[in-house]
Amino acid sequence: MNYSRFLTAVSMARKPSPIRILTELQQRSPPSLISLAGGAPNPNTFPFLSATIQMKNGEAVLFDQTMMKKALQYSASPGIPELVSWMKELQKKLHNPPTASYSPEKGQMELCVTTGSQEGLCKVFEMLISPGDNVLLDAPTYSGTLAAVQPLGCNIINVPSDQYGMIPEALKDVLSRWDPADAQKLGSGVPRVLYTIPNGGNPTGASMTAERKQKVYELAQDYDFLIIEDDPYYFLQFEKPWAPSFLSMDVDGRVIRTDSFSKILSSGLRIGFVTGPKPLVDRVVLHIQASTMHTSTFTQLMVSELLHFWGQEGFLKHIDSVVEFYRAQRNAMLSSADNWLKDVAEWHAPAAGMFLWIKLKGIKDTQKLIMEKALEKEVLLVPGGVFNIHSSEPCPYVRVAFSLSTPQQIDEAFKRLSALIKEALRCEELLRI
Ligand SMILES: Cc1ncc(COP(=O)(O)O)c(C=O)c1O
Repeated sequence: MNYSRFLTAVSMARKPSPIRILTELQQRSPPSLISLAGGAPNPNTFPFLSATIQMKNGEAVLFDQTMMKKALQYSASPGIPELVSWMKELQKKLHNPPTASYSPEKGQMELCVTTGSQEGLCKVFEMLISPGDNVLLDAPTYSGTLAAVQPLGCNIINVPSDQYGMIPEALKDVLSRWDPADAQKLGSGVPRVLYTIPNGGNPTGASMTAERKQKVYELAQDYDFLIIEDDPYYFLQFEKPWAPSFLSMDVDGRVIRTDSFSKILSSGLRIGFVTGPKPLVDRVVLHIQASTMHTSTFTQLMVSELLHFWGQEGFLKHIDSVVEFYRAQRNAMLSSADNWLKDVAEWHAPAAGMFLWIKLKGIKDTQKLIMEKALEKEVLLVPGGVFNIHSSEPCPYVRVAFSLSTPQQIDEAFKRLSALIKEALRCEELLRI
């Protein structure tokens, strides 16, 4: 892979921060090293002394005075080493990426910690997307992605999808306007980036089959583009075995994967990960050096302590309990939907994640219905248009989340929604007479 061909001018111009390099060198050195180099403040002046974070199972994460000083101090831009190495092992166990054994230049698997996967995604987009580029994605998609990608001035090309995610034949059709032989030619317009949410898509709840992923990967090889696999709902898959990821198929080193702890450990701690070929992850780290410097040392240490205490087995056991909760929530929502919405709406049962994507029958656009009428009836949903590339285009869908409300609240909400839809349909009928 010729990675430099994918980089934007901004990313290409990034240089390692000399101070950050020294800081990282110092942190890897024995305590006998006397460093007058770093500009780090003296943690003895900080007001916090120690902390005990009580866990629900009665255990505790303890930050004694030494640990607290570390938690309150600057740390390495790629993430604290103990968290990075734990996560690398997890990625190897879950995805067994072919790139794990590659040399760095060949695209060896690398990983860095980011402040939520959103930071990672945003930096990956800025690294790879230049104004005028053609970028492939399957809309409707996560509004946070659109918010990060659209200002980059690229041309977003929608690849049709269904409940099983992006349709490879449709992608092939979209790509047929270019010649794969032109992929390396400057200015050929052949897309260099494809973005997708492979599990429990936000907003559609769609999950991509392994077969589709393989076909999309083959097209990526033919046209030499990178795949950005945004997978925050990977751990919220309701069926086992979990679907193989793009990372697990990545024989070329063309997949950049973002993971998130937001849905399983805490969204407020802001811990996410970028995993991908070293030459690209290193560029993301250069961007981190120049912006946040690193994700909060405190939250990284807190999570790292927990993970080392749990081990992989304890972590996966915790995931099982989270999945059980969301499965019950999903089933409750599906049964309420069956009770109240069968005549007026359509949906698919999501195989992962926390969303149901509902098409309201006979309603051309849900924007006004939700923003005005639904509020009056005290039920709030997201109008589907906000997830489209052109948000002003009419959209008959709404996104509902089964994460936070109780089954009783969900049932009541759908009762109200059903009444609302019926009322809207009656009004339309009257207008037609
Ligand atoms: C598809 C998708 N990607 C990325 C994110 C960002 O997650 P975080 O930054 O909390 O890891 C979200 C959050 O909802 C999401 O739905």
